[in-house]
Amino acid sequence: MKMNSQPLSTIIPNRKRGQQDVLQLATEPLDRIRIGFVGLGYRGQSAVKRWSHIDGVEIVALCDANIDFVNQCAVVIGKENVILFSGQDGYARLCALSSLDIVYICTDWQSHTKIALCAMEHGKHVAIEVPAALSLTDIWQLIDKAEQTRRHCMMLENSVYDYFETAIRQLYHRGIFGNVVHVEGGYTHFMTDQWTTWRIEYNRTHCGDVYPTHGLGPLCQLLDIHRTDRFDYLVAMQSDAYTGGAVYQRLMDKPCEEFSNGDETTMLIRTLCGKTITLSHNVMNPRPYSRGYKVVGTQGYASKYPHPQVVLAEGSLQQLQLPLEFANQVLSNDVMEPLLQVHYPTYFGEQQALAHKLDPRGGMSFYMDYRLAYCLHRGLPLDMDVYDMAEWCCVSELSALSISHGAMPVSVPDFTRGAAQV
Ligand SMILES: NC(=O)c1ccc[n+]([C@@H]2O[C@H](COP(=O)([O-])OP(=O)(O)OC[C@H]3O[C@@H](n4cnc5c(N)ncnc54)[C@H](O)[C@@H]3O)[C@@H](O)[C@H]2O)c1
Repeated sequence: MKMNSQPLSTIIPNRKRGQQDVLQLATEPLDRIRIGFVGLGYRGQSAVKRWSHIDGVEIVALCDANIDFVNQCAVVIGKENVILFSGQDGYARLCALSSLDIVYICTDWQSHTKIALCAMEHGKHVAIEVPAALSLTDIWQLIDKAEQTRRHCMMLENSVYDYFETAIRQLYHRGIFGNVVHVEGGYTHFMTDQWTTWRIEYNRTHCGDVYPTHGLGPLCQLLDIHRTDRFDYLVAMQSDAYTGGAVYQRLMDKPCEEFSNGDETTMLIRTLCGKTITLSHNVMNPRPYSRGYKVVGTQGYASKYPHPQVVLAEGSLQQLQLPLEFANQVLSNDVMEPLLQVHYPTYFGEQQALAHKLDPRGGMSFYMDYRLAYCLHRGLPLDMDVYDMAEWCCVSELSALSISHGAMPVSVPDFTRGAAQV
């Protein structure tokens, strides 16, 4: 069904003459991946540990604004000849190193784009923690820079490498769920003592879904967004900000007159192929952790939280050679688990011991790094490209736009600017 009124729209900057898209970008294979890290806080330190266990990798440089974190990290990995940088601008010197192939960015949200742009300007690939970019301006700058320099610009969205999501995607691509008509995701995480000051400050000043990619990434990969389908438009609403002000006051030890980000934000996205996506964000209220992964298809259903469930219609059971008596009911764990296991990629089995040792949340961050290294070594296109980053991040600003216009529909730009034939 088509809309009768026009959604709000945003500017799509023209692609400069001579600049080409980077769909399926393949770059020179790297025998040894020379990597530098910027941002060595909670997330950066664990990334450095993970990469120090991947074959064919040389950790060349470490950088953090805080020199103590740099020194601590250098001691932990115990490698000699690692070049160390510190201070707010140390990243620029790291990016300028000629002995470096990729810059891995784990800083706070607002510094991601400037560091990534600097790295690509110096001919480096970039991998950026989530959310890689917060605004459409940042997103378009990253796309333009990746297209101009022909460098990879990947967002480090680890949730697409979690077990359930990976297996369900494989099953879907075998046709087991029929046509997927609706998916749901989100990020509900009662953050309590995990708040950083920069994060609460950003929430104070911005409405909209400011942390959308953990929920949205796996859904977009399932739906093949910008491969066989594309976002069309979205609408969003938020509850009042009942809790943020008190959290801010406790963390920052100063009064909070106004807090922009509502406790609960809900978004609905419609795709060009007529599918719907709901996405929610709540980091304020006491409730169980969830990324809300839910898939509704014409021949089956899957959901992950609070515990994994799969329902299949008769035709799908037949295709999988499973007894038809299970049709249209929740599969028992005895039936579901082996089904999921045979749909994990082979590298999960091969890398499992290391992945679980280095990543206490089930290994997904290790699998993400492992795949990035695998593709760089062989010169293959990466699992997530700059347009995935753009699509998964843009909903932050676009949801804020919808909220501020009373839940008006907002068009989602085609970030490939017509290059993806959807
Ligand atoms: N994928 C996940 O599961 C996951 C989990 C937690 C955090 N994250 C993401 O990781 C990123 C970092 O989060 P964190 O919790 O590690 O934050 P953090 O505050 O612990 O670490 C950020 C670090 O960046 C450094 N930094 C800031 N500006 C810098 C600059 N200009 N140059 C060099 N260093 C600079 C800070 O000194 C700090 O050490 C964020 O994008 C966050 O959303 C992802």
